[in-house]
Amino acid sequence: MLVRPALLPSWPPSPEELFGREGPLVLEIGFGDGRFTAELAKAHPDWLILGAEVSAASVHRALRRLRREGIGNVRLYLGEGPFALRNLVPDRGLRRVIVNFPDPWPKKRHQERRLLQESFFRRLSRKLAEGGDLLLTTDHEAYFRFALEEAGRTGLFRVAVAPPPEAHLRTKYALKWKEAGRAFFHAVFTKVAEDETPWPPLRRYEMAHALLEGSLPEALSLEKTPVPVAGGVAVFLEVVRGERGFYVLTHVEEEDLTQDLLLEVRPSARGVYAGVGRFGSPLITEGVKEAVRALVARLASMGLRVVQDHT
Ligand SMILES: C[S@@+](CC[C@H](N)C(=O)[O-])C[C@H]1O[C@@H](n2cnc3c(N)ncnc32)[C@H](O)[C@@H]1O
Repeated sequence: MLVRPALLPSWPPSPEELFGREGPLVLEIGFGDGRFTAELAKAHPDWLILGAEVSAASVHRALRRLRREGIGNVRLYLGEGPFALRNLVPDRGLRRVIVNFPDPWPKKRHQERRLLQESFFRRLSRKLAEGGDLLLTTDHEAYFRFALEEAGRTGLFRVAVAPPPEAHLRTKYALKWKEAGRAFFHAVFTKVAEDETPWPPLRRYEMAHALLEGSLPEALSLEKTPVPVAGGVAVFLEVVRGERGFYVLTHVEEEDLTQDLLLEVRPSARGVYAGVGRFGSPLITEGVKEAVRALVARLASMGLRVVQDHT
């Protein structure tokens, strides 16, 4: 089953809401084609396994595999692992996190894109239950050393370097690197203390729209220049004229959440509505609201007058 954050009744959801029952909760980040996830689920039918993966094609492949094999104790989230860690699991709710063959980002200038950074480990310490752990397996020695250093800097984990468990060497990438004769590195990071730094809440708003006096413009053009939003940017990618008005394909990147959504500009009983469309059930975050404000400002510059502002 695919997890749709915007449709969840509570935030973060309880394992009961996600899986229909309680059980040891395990998060796998970057599950790729899901063959390891499926094996893990079958080996531990009592576990509740949440997978996070940024590649839509991989999520699709993994979903098909889980359905084909009739596996019921896995839920998949299409999106960033850090977002799932932050928002889809309760504090101290995780028994284990598994990261197999994370993207190594070998170039120095790309290192900030690596998953297992100090900030990630700090947040992880809040989400792991007492004695909970993270299992890392990789073929990339420099990344391995990097992760050990980043975790070490937090002082929140006990680290044990050990040979990888056999099951972790049967993932798609493990098999590929085995064939290429590469060496493997494995570590278990066990939580020993918790980070006290408050984790800024991801605010979720119910509305993000404005009503404007005036009539729908004949044409609407928006610059592709990125609009700065809290912790990221928003970009208006494309404006399309539909039957009822304009759809604005908008890309919003925030700290650990990236969304593509549709903003709408259409006639309303009072004049013109400009706001978030329902398509895709986007999360109405501060960044999304900033994007709507930029759109409304553009309409105001075209002579429409804001009469109600819910941004
Ligand atoms: C090298 S592949 C390994 C896949 C799988 N674990 C395996 O061993 O075959 C890395 C995977 O992590 C995913 N990924 C990269 N960054 C991610 C992130 N921030 N959150 C979730 N998945 C991510 C990629 O899309 C890719 O599928």
